Formats: sequence, C-alpha cells, structure tokens
Amino acid sequence: MINKYNAKISGTGMYVPTKILNNYDLEKIVDTSDEWIRTRTGMFERHIAAENQAVSDLAYEATLKALEAADLRARDLDMIIIASVSNDHAFPSTGCILQKMLGIKNFPAFDISAGCTGWIYGANIAKLYIENGIYKNILLVGVEILSKITNWKDRNTCVLFGDGAGATIISRASSSDISQFIDSELSADGSNYELLIQAAGGSRMPASQQTIKDNKHTVYMEGNKIFKLAIRSMYTACHTVLKRNNLDIHSIDWLITHQANMRIIDALGKKLRIEDDKVIVNIDKYANTSAATIPIALDESIRNGKIRHGDLVLMTSFGAGLTSGSLLIRY
Ligand code: UT7
Repeated sequence: MINKYNAKISGTGMYVPTKILNNYDLEKIVDTSDEWIRTRTGMFERHIAAENQAVSDLAYEATLKALEAADLRARDLDMIIIASVSNDHAFPSTGCILQKMLGIKNFPAFDISAGCTGWIYGANIAKLYIENGIYKNILLVGVEILSKITNWKDRNTCVLFGDGAGATIISRASSSDISQFIDSELSADGSNYELLIQAAGGSRMPASQQTIKDNKHTVYMEGNKIFKLAIRSMYTACHTVLKRNNLDIHSIDWLITHQANMRIIDALGKKLRIEDDKVIVNIDKYANTSAATIPIALDESIRNGKIRHGDLVLMTSFGAGLTSGSLLIRY
C-alpha cells in the first residue's frame, strides 16, 4: 500500500497522581521487602491515584500538556483513542468521557483493550488513519489506575503496579518533515489469556457477593509463566520491524520497552544486542503503569532532552491477552 501521508508525533504529555507509595511503605502492607522488590523487579516508587480520581482525570491532565506541546487546541482533534484496562466505567468509553471534559464533540472517540500493549495498538490504528489521509490529529492516551483493581493482600501483584497517564498527539507530517512513523507490528496469542486477567465484572462472571469475597475483581497474574513469553514476544516484534526495514540494531538511537520488570528489560536489550545506554528505563519511579509506561517514558525522554528530533526510536510492549507489538518512529 502506498501511503498518501506520513504520521508523526506532534506532542506528548504525562500526568501521575501526587501520592507516592515506595517499597518501604509496601513492607507495612504485605510480607515483602525493599530488597526483594528492587532485585526482582527494579521498582522503588509508584504513584497512586486519589479516591476521587478516575482514569479520565489522569488522561485529561496529560492531554492538556500534549496539546500544548503540539501547539494545538482540543478542537483541532479528529479522533480520541484511549488505551486502558481500568476505565472509568465498563461503558461508556473513557474516550467519550474525555471528549466531554475537553468540550469537543462530533468525531470518533473509543477505547481499546490490549492490556499493556494498548498504546502500541492505538498508535498502529492512529498511524493508518493519518497515513490514508482520513484524519490530521489523533489523541492517543495510555492511562491506568491499576491501584483500584489491585488485591492489596496479594504480594505477588500489589507491589508491581502504579497509576499514570501518557498522552500523545499523532498528526499528519508535512512533506518536508523528517519526523515520521516508519513501521509497526502487532500480535496476540489468546491461548494463554487466563495468565493475566481481571476475571469478574463482565458477562462471564458478573459481579456478585461471591466474586467480591473471592477477590475476582482484582488483577490476577501468573508472573513467572509470562516472564519468558514477554521477552520472546517483544524480541520478535522488534526483530520483525528491524528486518522488514533493513535496519541494524545499532542504527536505533533509543529503545523504549514496556516497564514491567527490570530483568525483562535487561534480557530483551541483551537479546537485541542494543547498547545499555540506549535503553530508556524509569521503572524505579513509576513501576508498571500498564498501557501508560511507553507514552510516559516517551514524554519524559523528549522533555529531558534524551530523545531529539531525527532520532530513531523503537518501542515495544507485551501484556494481557497476551498481546505484543512494536512501533518504530523517527521522532
Ligand atoms: O505488564 C504485563 C506483563 N507483565 C509481566 O511481564 C510480568 C512478568 N513477570 C515478572 O515480572 C515476575 O515474574 C514477577 C516480578 C511478577 C515475579 O518475579 P519472579 O522472580 O518470577 O518470582 P516468582 O513469582 O517465581 O516467586 C518467587 C518467590 C516466591 O516464593 P517461594 O514460592 O519461592 O517461596 C514468591 O512467593 O518470591 C515470592 N514473592 C515475593 N516475596 C517477597 C512473590 N512476590 C513477592 C514479594 N515480596 N512482593
């Protein structure tokens, strides 16, 4: 397919709630230790949403920053995509709620459920809408409040997650622009979907007193079973895109991987043979914010001057589904 236009990232923004929970705070809640969390995951702090905050509130704050960075107003947007598994409500979509908060209407707004890979899935959708000329400016937000669907008695999961939002404006690039989306690869393997799940609250297991008693409304994860799958899937997603574009890993300026575990990030970097100092890591500050990890890391790295215009940035993620994907851009 010949693209009519190129897509590019024209603005980014992030927001994390003010409350911080560190490993020492967690030691008081469950049978864990700072030492275990640091050595097994690389995490130290995570931000936790206030009782009255929902994901649309976090998404709104991040969006205002992204619009400012892109020098656009809300009314310039043509589509809103939200990537989240912890939406305000089961329905309507957080996309529609955010549209109302921004005071705009009469264009498509929706959510996608692809777990931690949600932002990569959304970027792929946005890319296609921009490249075929249908839209000019698409707002894509990866946002989660996993703290509200966490079992705070389960040390296997409660130490791992944080709350936050990363907003991105994906726009039509001008013909002279060096910034552009180059390629993207998506995949899913549903055969192991039970390994990472919020089981209750849908039509399979509607909410009942029993589901609440059994903690079925919280995140269940068999982390050690998906550890190796995470490395393998993200490697395949990156390798496919590099090969398809005849690119050597050494030509990549920055690798942003999903921030689920420092050991996964390290192993993936080694398997890809990328230099350590090209791998962006912020897991110590935010832990695993699911669909928000990549847009948060992207925004931080642009604002702190690491990622500069013209840099080749490879992004990859893995999550519930089990989904995986990659996105290669020239920023
Ligand atoms: O974001 C979506 C995708 N998610 C991922 O990619 C996550 C992938 N998985 C992981 O990152 C890791 O598997 C975890 C960090 C979740 C767990 O690390 P692990 O090295 O795989 O530990 P494990 O689950 O095999 O547990 C090892 C031991 C167990 O004790 P025993 O049975 O050996 O006595 C656990 O009970 O560590 C224990 N453990 C803990 N100990 C202290 C588990 N959680 C904790 C904890 N504090 N928080």
